[in-house]
Amino acid sequence: MAESTKSEPESGLLTNIFLEIVQSPINIALVLLISFLLYKIFRRQNETPVRQAAPELPKLKKRDFTVEELRKYDGTQGDGRVLVAVNGNVYDVTKGKRFYGPGGPYAAFGGRDASRGLATFQVSAAGEGYDDLSDLSTMEMDSVKEWESQFKEKYDLVGRLLKPGEQPNNYSDEEDEPVTTGEKSKDD
Ligand code: HEM
Repeated sequence: MAESTKSEPESGLLTNIFLEIVQSPINIALVLLISFLLYKIFRRQNETPVRQAAPELPKLKKRDFTVEELRKYDGTQGDGRVLVAVNGNVYDVTKGKRFYGPGGPYAAFGGRDASRGLATFQVSAAGEGYDDLSDLSTMEMDSVKEWESQFKEKYDLVGRLLKPGEQPNNYSDEEDEPVTTGEKSKDD
């Protein structure tokens, strides 16, 4: 057994450790593995993120939308903004673009009234024109309202979805006032 004394030079100890390691193939493999993992960890820390978060779009000025106007905001336009209507209200869901933008699982809601789809759990339930939802059951409407309260919590309310012939509100003087939703959420 090697005697380790205080006078033994430190380099001798290191040499012993080195010899111990290189004499066993398993040890060599472990050293290589540890070096590789350390290299990966340090490289990852110094790397700049590959996927930079998209810059946030300026807040949309409050306004009301016809079904046709809403349709443009499906995320395919230059700025990539996505709006979704739920229960007669329009929400800016751009920060949830991975859901509602092109290629997302709920892309069929982008630029559309998602109410019927949310009520019936069918993503592609929306028709082409305005949907007054009058044939939905009470349970289905409750489900729409429940969904809406989630949208309200997460996304900005932009305005209302207009019925055919309905005139848009002028929000210019009431910028910070909440849009009259007709429906109350549990937070109101
Ligand atoms: C197999 C069926 C489904 C699975 C596994 C699924 C899975 C998910 C998951 C994991 C999330 C949360 C994503 C996150 O917050 O990161 C989510 C959110 C959501 N799902 Fe689904 N889903 C399914 C069906 C549906 C259907 C049928 C609808 C509507 C018709 C729907 C509408 C939504 C909506 C609106 C959100 C919220 C996205 C947001 O935060 O804006 N899902 N789903």
